[in-house]
Amino acid sequence: MNVLHVLVHPDPSSDSSTMKLANAFFGTLMEAGIDDVTNLSLYQDKPPFLTAEALRYFWKPVADPGYIPSKQEETSANYAHKHMGDIRDADAIVITTPVWINSAPAILKAWMDQVFVPGNLFEIENGIVKPTHHIKSVVLLASSAEAYKENDPRDALVPLVRGIFAYIGIDDVQVAWADGQDERRYGPDAVKQRLESALEYAGELAEDMAATLMAPPAEA
Ligand SMILES: Cc1cc2nc3c(=O)[nH]c(=O)nc-3n(C[C@H](O)[C@H](O)[C@H](O)COP(=O)(O)O)c2cc1C
Repeated sequence: MNVLHVLVHPDPSSDSSTMKLANAFFGTLMEAGIDDVTNLSLYQDKPPFLTAEALRYFWKPVADPGYIPSKQEETSANYAHKHMGDIRDADAIVITTPVWINSAPAILKAWMDQVFVPGNLFEIENGIVKPTHHIKSVVLLASSAEAYKENDPRDALVPLVRGIFAYIGIDDVQVAWADGQDERRYGPDAVKQRLESALEYAGELAEDMAATLMAPPAEA
């Protein structure tokens, strides 16, 4: 049972609230018996933005099955080819990210554009997306300076992550979000309390993920 951890933090060694969430989640996941974790730290292995050549390489065959890529187009898909397997092999995904400008750092979207391509997690038949992955569970761990309310119109992070997974047939993305982490604005007590509840919830989500991964396969 493999869990892919996509870490979107420029300084993974820091003791930041985002990293605390990841530590709480994976500590509980290990205790629950899941230790097969693949770590992909995007700032340590940076995805390039998708180029016109890579776009043609991955998306042109959808409309033109006879398309033969040029050498340059093949080369433009090198990062994707290196990392497509990470997510294809995963039974569960955890994305850990700070909130930047109400969304994720752009590097997360760059990674999504590289690996959410036809032939990797899905095929497209007559315009319809047919998922081919075996992902059973997705969790988003996030941290932000400001407090966000439920379905906050400023929030472009949760819709981004839910949207991309809905595209491949996964409608249930659970979120543990340590928001309101700005001490100057909210004071140390409120910040601490918000972080503690998010850490606790991250632990619960890890237990849920472990239970999902260890559940016997449903009868056909
Ligand atoms: C470039 C940048 C943009 C940010 N944009 C937002 C934002 O839109 N909303 C917010 O609440 N916090 C924002 N923040 C603050 C971070 O989300 C906050 O500090 C978060 O707790 C970072 O987690 P870390 O301490 O783990 O790095 C931003 C921080 C940076 C560096």
